[in-house]
Amino acid sequence: MKVCVVGTGYVGLTTGACLAYLGHDVTCVELDAAKVESLRAGRSPIYEPHMDELLAEAAERLRFTTEHAEGVSGADVVFIAVQTPSLPDGNPDLRHLRSAAESVGEHVTGPFTVVVNKSTVPIGSGNWVDAILRESFERRHGRRPDGEFAVASNPEFLREGVALFDTLYPDRIVIGSDDPRSLQVLNELYRPILNQTFTPPTFLPRPGEVGAVPMVSTDLASAELIKYAANAFLAIKISYINEIGRLAGRVGADIMEVARGTGLDARIGPRFLEPGVGWGGSCFGKDTAALITTAGEYHHDMPIVQAAREVNARQRRMVVDRLLDELRLIKGRRIGLLGLAFKPETDDLRDSPAIDIAEQLIAHGARVVLHDPVAAGRFRRERPDLAGHLCDSAEAVFDDSDAVVLVTKWSHYLDLDWGKLLPTMRTPVLLDGRHCLDAERMRRLGYRYLCVGG
Ligand code: UDX
Repeated sequence: MKVCVVGTGYVGLTTGACLAYLGHDVTCVELDAAKVESLRAGRSPIYEPHMDELLAEAAERLRFTTEHAEGVSGADVVFIAVQTPSLPDGNPDLRHLRSAAESVGEHVTGPFTVVVNKSTVPIGSGNWVDAILRESFERRHGRRPDGEFAVASNPEFLREGVALFDTLYPDRIVIGSDDPRSLQVLNELYRPILNQTFTPPTFLPRPGEVGAVPMVSTDLASAELIKYAANAFLAIKISYINEIGRLAGRVGADIMEVARGTGLDARIGPRFLEPGVGWGGSCFGKDTAALITTAGEYHHDMPIVQAAREVNARQRRMVVDRLLDELRLIKGRRIGLLGLAFKPETDDLRDSPAIDIAEQLIAHGARVVLHDPVAAGRFRRERPDLAGHLCDSAEAVFDDSDAVVLVTKWSHYLDLDWGKLLPTMRTPVLLDGRHCLDAERMRRLGYRYLCVGG
């Protein structure tokens, strides 16, 4: 099929590269000419494991352009995957979505094109996009559209860092549209994934347990709500284990054992029960805020979702509280943070707990030093105000420090020579923000080992 993807962020690029790999003919439209140039040279502008390899394998069927006309005209499916960052009132900023929809409406030719909203948007946005497409089409052609296109919602559930795996081997595919033809076209588009009939890339083998992938075909509003309901649930799950972790710390229970024993109940499941400094990234904060705001428009409150957000903010503050308890004074202390990305295997810094914690520590007068094995370059560009705090190596973070906090669970940190690093510190306070180090071993080595939440 002829596919166009508008926007080459994590979602757009992953979608484009995977669909081209599956055999579709894909054109990605990106307004940033520098990104297009890099992609044409086979280099991904974002850090995502195996992306460059997949781009190389799919190169024959994958084009990049700055022109909407090149991708949209004659396409069977157009994905809109532009960014929708949060506004201060909790609503997503839909400016990019509006202008993408206007351009698509101007260039869409049919005979029948499904315009898919892939960006996470408030419930009802599918109808809004449809209205923009129609207006734009009418302005261009001087007549109303006559079945040339229909709008669908196809939310993504991919996790950064394993985005390609999640796209090729998803738990489910959700498609929402009020036009039955769209559901047919998207069913056809995704058939190789639904039936798992494609030959897996050598670097992303198909896991043994993956069989046919379930597809949820529904109406527009339901598909839009599924995305929010799923992300909010995951966010609540993390905050729940963090809340239990706080109590575990007080009563002398081991939160890791509690999480394991709880998660082995098949009704609960073991994933997303890892306690620590809490969630970050582009989705959970933004989507829980948007869900609460949308509910507010219907005079409906969401106390459980709201509580999950509050617990998450508290987990970040807890780092400062734990250090205050241990060091008594933070002012003038050298405190090192290991990890800046919101989680390992990505260079994404959006809503990163580490940055929030660094800012809180700086506000308390600490001398903060930072390190990340992958995201440091991006951090330098995006946060020049804090770039002076960066260290060249993880080892340098320990040098003469009063405390070190492990914020992102990069495997690089798990493999550090912890015994050798301890004597380089001024006081060996180690705060494990992800419960990922061996507490017994760290204490044996001589660290004052603490953890966040439990
Ligand atoms: C998330 C969803 O998982 C994905 O389905 C959605 O479509 C986009 O948002 P992502 O933001 O890439 O994906 O990251 P994810 O792996 O879900 O982790 C989110 C945050 O939660 C990270 O900061 C992670 O460290 C934290 N987390 C995750 C925990 O604190 N504990 C856990 O048990 C799991």
